[in-house]
Amino acid sequence: MYQPPLPPEYSNLSDDELRSRISAAKKALGSKLVILGHHYQRDEIIEYADFRGDSYKLAKLAAAAPEAEYIVFCGVHFMAESADILTPESQIVILPNLAAGCSMADMANLFQVRAAWKQIHSVLGPSERVIPVTYINSAANLKAFVGEHDGTVCTSTNAPTAVKWALEQGTKMFFFPDQHLGRNTGVKLGYSTDEMVVWDPFKPMGGNTPEAVQRAKFILWKGHCSVHKRFTVEQIEKARREMPGVHVLVHPECELEVVEAADSNGSTEFILDSITNAPAGSKWAVGTEINLVSRLAKEMPDKQIVCLDPEICPCSTMYRIHPSFLLWTLENLVAGNVVNQVKVPAEVRENALISLQRMLTVCA
Ligand code: 13P
Ligand code: SF4
Repeated sequence: MYQPPLPPEYSNLSDDELRSRISAAKKALGSKLVILGHHYQRDEIIEYADFRGDSYKLAKLAAAAPEAEYIVFCGVHFMAESADILTPESQIVILPNLAAGCSMADMANLFQVRAAWKQIHSVLGPSERVIPVTYINSAANLKAFVGEHDGTVCTSTNAPTAVKWALEQGTKMFFFPDQHLGRNTGVKLGYSTDEMVVWDPFKPMGGNTPEAVQRAKFILWKGHCSVHKRFTVEQIEKARREMPGVHVLVHPECELEVVEAADSNGSTEFILDSITNAPAGSKWAVGTEINLVSRLAKEMPDKQIVCLDPEICPCSTMYRIHPSFLLWTLENLVAGNVVNQVKVPAEVRENALISLQRMLTVCA
């Protein structure tokens, strides 16, 4: 998404000036404004968030804030799109930096998904019914595709419910764009990896034989998160050696072998809750984005909390929400101008709303 350059007057402000002007703009906007912050945002953004959460919680919060005129979403593009779809037309959703995308969401586009859908159906008999499930980390037009084909959106919080639901509706599930969340969820529900194929959008029939597609229960898109792909079994073994009694907790976007070697896995909100509710003195090695892990370590000094990956690796797109961008968008709102609005076209919104609402109802 093209982001016009930040106006020069916002480029070199000191931390103190940013802080006082953001607070003043927020005060001036009062109840007209709600700021949502995903857990991967830096501390300098989270301090202004009215609500923090994972993708699921923030989608629900956006849908439940009808009194706010403006929702400023400090997260990434697909999250702001989902908020726009779930809120009334009159509400304005703003992403402070439109260049804050998600590299995993970019791994599947509508053209590729439509082509895959056609190829999959070309080798299936009439008794087969494929239910599409898209991870919320996907473009709005993929959510619309799923809505149009009787499927659902899921997040890392409700993926097991969504997958279970999909396999009750149909004989196969087509899951995109994160192969790891799809595989981990299937295994969590008792399915074997032998019942799964990976669909590579750059190969005919996704790189599979027609027979393999016919046999598979799960067709998993070949997408991944570059942040969560960095976590390894070796890092877990090292943490267990160096921190006896440690609890290893990872996000389900990690590879299956990592999830299996960990003690537990779940969404960012699950990670936050698990550590918050643990006793003082407990030890945690966490496989997720560094801004969240560092914040947890700072907020709970009575527990030992480390990131599994010793090389600090933030989600580079989440990091694009810099306080200067937040200030720019807020001061424009105070002046009556809207910059960086995320507006999903009406023809996409209609079907995308079906799949998002299905998630909020059936997969709640
Ligand atoms: P959560 O829904 O768990 O916050 O995950 C979002 C995400 O992008 C993780 O990489
Ligand atoms: Fe996307 Fe990974 Fe960043 Fe999450 S951490 S927003 S999946 S790139």
